[in-house]
Amino acid sequence: MSAATAAVLMAFLLAITCLWTFPQVANAGVTRHYKFNIELKNITRLCHTKSIVTVNGKFPGPRVIAREGDRLVVKVVNHVSNNISIHWHGIRQLRSGWADGPSYVTQCPIQTNQTYVYNFTITGQRGTLFWHAHITWMRATVYGPLIILPKPNQPYPFPKPYKQVPIMFGEWFNADPEAVISQALQTGGGPNVSDAYTLNGLPGPLYNCSAKDTYKLKVKPGKTYLLRLINAALNDDLFFSIANHTFTVVEADAGYVKPFNTRVLLITPGQTTNVLLKTKPVSPNATFYMLARPYFTGQGTFDNTTIAGILEYEETQNLTTTPVFTPVLPAINATNVVANFSSKFRALATAQFPVTVPQTVDRTFLFTVGLGISPCGNNKTNNQTCQGPNGTRFAASMNNISMPLPSTALLQAYYTKKSNGVFTTDFPITPLNPFNYTGTPPNNTFVANGTKAVVLPFNTTVEVVLQGTSILGAESHPIHLHGYNFYIVGQGFGNFDPSKDPKSYNLVDPVERNTVGVPTAGWVAIRFRADNPGVWLMHCHFDVHLSWGLRMAWVVMDGKLPHQKLLPPPSDLPKC
Ligand code: C2O
Repeated sequence: MSAATAAVLMAFLLAITCLWTFPQVANAGVTRHYKFNIELKNITRLCHTKSIVTVNGKFPGPRVIAREGDRLVVKVVNHVSNNISIHWHGIRQLRSGWADGPSYVTQCPIQTNQTYVYNFTITGQRGTLFWHAHITWMRATVYGPLIILPKPNQPYPFPKPYKQVPIMFGEWFNADPEAVISQALQTGGGPNVSDAYTLNGLPGPLYNCSAKDTYKLKVKPGKTYLLRLINAALNDDLFFSIANHTFTVVEADAGYVKPFNTRVLLITPGQTTNVLLKTKPVSPNATFYMLARPYFTGQGTFDNTTIAGILEYEETQNLTTTPVFTPVLPAINATNVVANFSSKFRALATAQFPVTVPQTVDRTFLFTVGLGISPCGNNKTNNQTCQGPNGTRFAASMNNISMPLPSTALLQAYYTKKSNGVFTTDFPITPLNPFNYTGTPPNNTFVANGTKAVVLPFNTTVEVVLQGTSILGAESHPIHLHGYNFYIVGQGFGNFDPSKDPKSYNLVDPVERNTVGVPTAGWVAIRFRADNPGVWLMHCHFDVHLSWGLRMAWVVMDGKLPHQKLLPPPSDLPKC
């Protein structure tokens, strides 16, 4: 072992020891400091070497670990020419919206050579989340795990795992992802798809030139491992399975669920899932592929490749001669498998982890989510026609509003009462022109543009039905809400029926998440209580749809009491 390796190991052991064994006063969290240097790094995948934007030269980025109740202080220094901001995906950011991270929503981006300190407390959450860049397509390479351990001396509500392993899915482009999306926005066509998926940053043996870049999970027989699954891919829902093994799902989006067994998982971008993996009682003298590949029903092109990692038993002898088993994944368009899988999630709903779903709601909303088109417009270069449908541009919308980002941050505009010319508060509560959402699309599929929000008084109870459309192909959209978790109280295929569907809502043990896959050609109903003042983005977590405008914002007003108000902005808040 070299001195440098030894030093790194020592530092690591020290960090682990502090985190795991130092007794801490129950409930009183500690402050954990991290430094994120945004810097370029040369890396090689699929035999392509290129310079990518990273945090601290790491790809995927460094693991952030804290306990429930801790304060995180992350100093981000931008050493690259791109603007950047970091989002702590799934963190509630109670009253600390300034630290949420989406560029032009809660902050202006951090410019070259500028610094911003994200400072927030993790309250009432424990489990797996992740952090990622939140501007253009920078999150293609700028992401990492965010692991929240329970408070000291608080056990998991499931058997204590022998080891915990983050399994992070990503998407690799041989080209510069920034160039991919900017070219697509210029031509109006769909962006080029990724060249590979990655598992913990590695593409694995099924890709050209990548056998040496394979993620291997080495396990001991007869043990329980906690896999912390994170889908950080840009544009693809993924099925995941390990040959000859079964998972027990115990947590989703950093909330405990009633455990259930499954051989195949579906995980959308923005979702995280904790599963227990029980290894075979004796070493099976075999290796097992873990595979992931997309679920896709849309009309466009997508990366239909498969990422493989390897599950290897430590005592297996003679690896070259042992058999290799491959799992069977569902068909690419297996909507039935997805529906069946998502119906299995139920909140743990115990006295310690109660369900607080609003039983009645003050406001109900119906938002369509889907694709549309925009005119080719004057961006048409050299008399060329646009490359979207019939010479138009691809767009995406909620309630047919495609949202451009303003040139200043929404939260700042709201807080300083200068929202004039930045955003309006007339986001429609239901579609302005209702149609048969999941039937034959209407003739006119042009979207409107607008930076519009819905204003909610503090503590409003809200129900939103997210209704998928079939415009330019029915597909599932992973809708993510910032600043909140929501309860998924109902879902179904076809058009939502307000007279019939609410009768079958689950108001007893609905799962609590921050990202939900709206069923393909269907709907999902979510509920939350607007108890976190600030400006909160809600959007499709497919970056291509986000870039096309599939987003809106909630403005949640301050409450009357002092602890119900948004905190003042930090003094180093970046300026636009
Ligand atoms: Cu993980 Cu607004 O995103």
